[in-house]
Amino acid sequence: MTFLIVLSLMLSLVACLPNSLSNLGAGRKTFHDLAQFSWKNWTLTEVCLDCTRTSPSELFDCEYKFRWDDPNFNTSAHCNNPWKWDGITTQQGPNNTYNTNYIICEMAWPEVWQLRINNIQDELFELGLIHTCKDEMLQRLPAPPEIAEFFAVPNFTMQLMGRDDYSIVYAAKEPVSVLIQGLTSSPA
Ligand SMILES: *[C@@H]1O[C@H](CO)[C@@H](O)[C@H](O)[C@H]1NC(C)=O
Ligand SMILES: *[C@@H]1O[C@H](CO)[C@@H](O)[C@H](O)[C@H]1NC(C)=O
Ligand SMILES: *[C@@H]1O[C@H](CO)[C@@H](O)[C@H](O)[C@H]1NC(C)=O
Ligand SMILES: *[C@@H]1O[C@H](CO)[C@@H](O)[C@H](O)[C@H]1NC(C)=O
Repeated sequence: MTFLIVLSLMLSLVACLPNSLSNLGAGRKTFHDLAQFSWKNWTLTEVCLDCTRTSPSELFDCEYKFRWDDPNFNTSAHCNNPWKWDGITTQQGPNNTYNTNYIICEMAWPEVWQLRINNIQDELFELGLIHTCKDEMLQRLPAPPEIAEFFAVPNFTMQLMGRDDYSIVYAAKEPVSVLIQGLTSSPA
């Protein structure tokens, strides 16, 4: 029970990170200047948004899916994020329920992969991504092993591959190369 509470506190901290960088100065977390490292880009492959419905009077059931590789740790995860959409509304709301809070794609603490949809405009998708893991293999952080949180806010276009009354499919034809934009660490 205690473990669960601690874990959920840690996760809520992680989930808040990119929104509240300035609020987190209180000692336990260290913000690192990325320039001192040479992290490799993440790669997102098989990125697609797949929406289906059985009747034009219903909302579409959409799934946003991709595989996410982190070559810094040779680890990967799959994200599969469902939401409801009328196929028209661009603003998040009852007719387009994409998540603007971080959701967990995969978790086996301290290995956590999180996704947020920041914005969708036509074919331009802006995501928030956080990969949390223990830096014990690379030992590049000042006091390893530490729990490190890497985050990025990639923007990329997906192409409309097909659309009718019953399905809408968007896909990124090429793998998406994602620059890591921020890094914090805390003692493991
Ligand atoms: C990841 O794989 C590459 C290529 O096989 C290897 O050079 C590298 O040392 C591996 N890194 C880790 C952290 O295991
Ligand atoms: C959602 O779409 C329905 C059908 O087009 C419309 O009647 C309703 O007003 C929309 N709701 C919002 C909050 O936009
Ligand atoms: C993507 O766009 C958002 C909002 O304009 C911006 O904050 C973010 O830094 C951009 N990402 C990159 C990698 O440029
Ligand atoms: C890393 O990703 C950024 C953003 O997509 C890209 O501009 C840059 O060329 C990539 N770097 C490498 C080495 O692939």
